Amino acid sequence: MAVQEEIMDTLILGIESSCDETAAAVIKNGRYIMSNVISSQIDLHKKYGGVVPEIASRKHVELIIPVINQALDEAGVSLSDIDAVGVTYGPGLVGALLVGLTAAKAIAFTADKPLVGVHHIEGHIAANYLQYPELEPPFICLVASGGHSHIVQVKSYGEFEILGQTRDDAAGEAFDKISRAIGLGYPGGPLIDKYALKGNSNAISFPRVHFNDGTLDFSFSGLKTSVLNYLNKMEQTGEEINIPDVAASFQKAVVDVLVENTIRAAKMKNINKIALAGGVAANSQLRSEIKSTAQKQGIDVMYPGLILCTDNAAMIGCAAYYEYIKGKRADLDLNAIPSLKLS
Ligand SMILES: Nc1ncnc2c1ncn2[C@@H]1O[C@H](COP(=O)(O)OP(=O)(O)OP(=O)(O)O)[C@@H](O)[C@H]1O
Ligand SMILES: [Mg+2]
Repeated sequence: MAVQEEIMDTLILGIESSCDETAAAVIKNGRYIMSNVISSQIDLHKKYGGVVPEIASRKHVELIIPVINQALDEAGVSLSDIDAVGVTYGPGLVGALLVGLTAAKAIAFTADKPLVGVHHIEGHIAANYLQYPELEPPFICLVASGGHSHIVQVKSYGEFEILGQTRDDAAGEAFDKISRAIGLGYPGGPLIDKYALKGNSNAISFPRVHFNDGTLDFSFSGLKTSVLNYLNKMEQTGEEINIPDVAASFQKAVVDVLVENTIRAAKMKNINKIALAGGVAANSQLRSEIKSTAQKQGIDVMYPGLILCTDNAAMIGCAAYYEYIKGKRADLDLNAIPSLKLS
């Protein structure tokens, strides 16, 4: 009689606390979200116009255990059912990272579970595996978030080559800074996205930076200065500033270079799959423009659902799963690395 082997599910508890979201999730076999709990601190930081690191850390301390418990409850599992704990250990705010990492280490130690350290950006990229269960590397990924603007060639699970990156501000950072300058507030991306819908993206001519050294790098600080100069000039001459037009023209300038360089990367590498990742991947114009432009050139475009674009622990659980099945384990002396490099 043939022995029937029972195929066991692999459950990962993912933990994320690198910035201002306290998050925990349970992921089955790397692709299925059993729970995804996100406690955002946005309202807490709004009045300061950005994330205050010390406040973020203190709030993480308050929330981390309840959020983890909720993730386990919603998944209908207990710690003994979990195969491994995956946690973001960088990059991010050191105090914020340490809260999630310490909780993960405590769980790994007391429940005797393996610990897997996850790079936050590897997590953002992995969000696409949750959205598209059939997606496999290789593909080109545009990672555009609050702290990063990278064009990455995803060669296999956890294996990356950075093809281009920002030389100054990240795309999300530019959205946040310009939003503050035009009085829309924090976080800037969703607000600019919303106001841009009512504006004319050709109203004001803002620069698109291209380097003539053939790289796929980005630069957004010149664009930021140009918007600030425009606002100052309008103020000095007493002219009324049309906020939706500024939002739309600025957003279009960012989207144009993100789309152009990412498609160039795909063509350069002869890869016909592009994925978006990170908070800026939630941008409605970026999603629609890259899709329509790439499709005309035979390139498929994927992006995660909105909740999987910004920080969450489901993406960390997914990335941890692929590291776990490769045999990667972290020791309990794993430390937070605020400027951890992707490759
Ligand atoms: N609809 C949108 N359009 C443009 N930008 C957006 C949108 N939604 C969110 N963002 C931007 O995404 C950023 C937050 O994304 P994310 O949570 O990935 O960044 P982070 O975790 O702070 O940075 P990193 O991932 O680089 O460490 C913010 O800068 C925010 O303004
Ligand atoms: Mg992030």
